[in-house]
Amino acid sequence: MDTFTIPNNIYLLGMPGSGKSTLGRALSEELGITFYDLDQYIETQAGKDITRIFAEDGEDGFRSIENQCLMQLSEQPHPKVIATGGGTPCFHKNIEYIDYHGVGIFLNVPLEIIVERLIQQGTGGRPLLQDKSPKELLGQLHEHFLQRKAYYLKALIHMEGSSISMNDILVELKAL
Ligand code: S3P
Repeated sequence: MDTFTIPNNIYLLGMPGSGKSTLGRALSEELGITFYDLDQYIETQAGKDITRIFAEDGEDGFRSIENQCLMQLSEQPHPKVIATGGGTPCFHKNIEYIDYHGVGIFLNVPLEIIVERLIQQGTGGRPLLQDKSPKELLGQLHEHFLQRKAYYLKALIHMEGSSISMNDILVELKAL
């Protein structure tokens, strides 16, 4: 691998089902750095799963824990890849924090592809998308995407398409 300076924080951003965790894990292995899934870290810190956090603390409570966990992870001194949650960039000025503390990578995957993936995976554990028909799911994703796109677009790197690969991301990172 050619040498390049690995940013201390690489953040993957995008809608649920856009591949943040899968690509993030692969990227971290390729670069030999740590991988964190923000949702998993939140669950460990809160001592309960995301569904329970939403049920007991509401979305506001979740967003506040999410913001604290994003900062805690980012402050760890070693280089790392962080897969954020779909809503992370849109609350508590998190996108500005991300842009200041590292490199944000927006995975812009067509919503039709995302719906297929989510139907296959199931929406359990994603309280904002649970218990919906495929049509309702697509509608909800469209609504969220409309609200979120402006935040996602503030990321430094934008990747677009239905088959973004770890290598595509690596090329963009090396070109910075
Ligand atoms: C959310 C997405 C989830 C999780 C939470 C809220 C959202 O993460 O953070 O359920 O607001 O879209 P994924 O993008 O990993 O599903």
